[in-house]
Amino acid sequence: MLPIRSFLFIPGDSEKKLSKVDDCGADAVILDLEDAVAPANKVAARSLITQFLMERTGLRSPQIWVRINPLDTGLTEADLAAVVGGRPDGIIQPKTDRPADVALVSAMLDSLEVDLALPLGGIPIIPVATETAIAPFHLGEYATAGLSRLAGLTWGAEDLATAIGATGNRAADGQWYFTFQLARSLTLLAAHASGVQAIETLHADFRDDEGLRHSSLLARQEGFSGRLAIHPAQVAIINECFTPSPAEVDHAQEILAAFAANPGAGTVGLGGKMIDIPHRKQAERIVAEAKAFGLLK
Ligand code: COA
Ligand code: MG
Repeated sequence: MLPIRSFLFIPGDSEKKLSKVDDCGADAVILDLEDAVAPANKVAARSLITQFLMERTGLRSPQIWVRINPLDTGLTEADLAAVVGGRPDGIIQPKTDRPADVALVSAMLDSLEVDLALPLGGIPIIPVATETAIAPFHLGEYATAGLSRLAGLTWGAEDLATAIGATGNRAADGQWYFTFQLARSLTLLAAHASGVQAIETLHADFRDDEGLRHSSLLARQEGFSGRLAIHPAQVAIINECFTPSPAEVDHAQEILAAFAANPGAGTVGLGGKMIDIPHRKQAERIVAEAKAFGLLK
């Protein structure tokens, strides 16, 4: 599956913001039923999203994901029942404590798919897997939980701060406090251990283009393949940062050419640096990504 570079959140009760979907440039949008929607508007948001999905069946760019309400609200099942018939591209599940929570939502999807005669298992799930105090302790369990719908893992710093009574999560220079760095790194490792996409959390200061660019480039260097966005102006920057740059693609091609010129070699020299099998694998991944994004034939 092609990595989803950008996921743009759209409050599910805002007709005006929903109207921006086609021009937003994101690889995926997330129509939100959770924190962006006040309790009094939940029901209205559900029907707006249902109608929106129904009007778009067959139109699949950008992908349309839905963030449901978490299990402890009692709203989850009705959220799913409202949206599954519209065949969303995936479900974002917030405030999960552990893989069993994802298994529960997966079972709800199973029965809805059967009832509606939809392809079984066709709707993937990405949990926001660090929003409760216990959640980070269970991240490693995703890799062996047998969740066939699991398509990625992402993390949330705002709800985690609230959960642990922290009054902030980043220092003045933009660095995450240690607890948040820990949750972030564990999410990254858990995603790769599970063979799914690692999605970086959002950059809340939506006018801070420089901070967004800097932190997105770092996230990609560290192994994240995409990022959450909350404002349309963040999308182009995120897409750019999570697409291999021309220099990266050139370098990857040079590495592959050096190996091709030395068949059987496990290690070669390139520009005064040792290149071995891990570099070769990374170069292959970058070239495959560049092809998938249409940057190379
Ligand atoms: N999706 C679609 N359109 C959006 C948008 C979004 N997430 N955020 C802003 N827009 C639109 C606005 O409606 C506005 O449209 P207009 O030019 O036709 O008036 C335009 O983009 C510029 O918006 P701007 O004035 O810069 O921002 P704002 O003050 O209206 O909104 C937020 C700021 C944070 C409230 C808004 O970006 C938002 O709702 N983000 C998503 C929040 C969310 O879903 N949170 C849950 C996940 S944590
Ligand atoms: Mg939240």
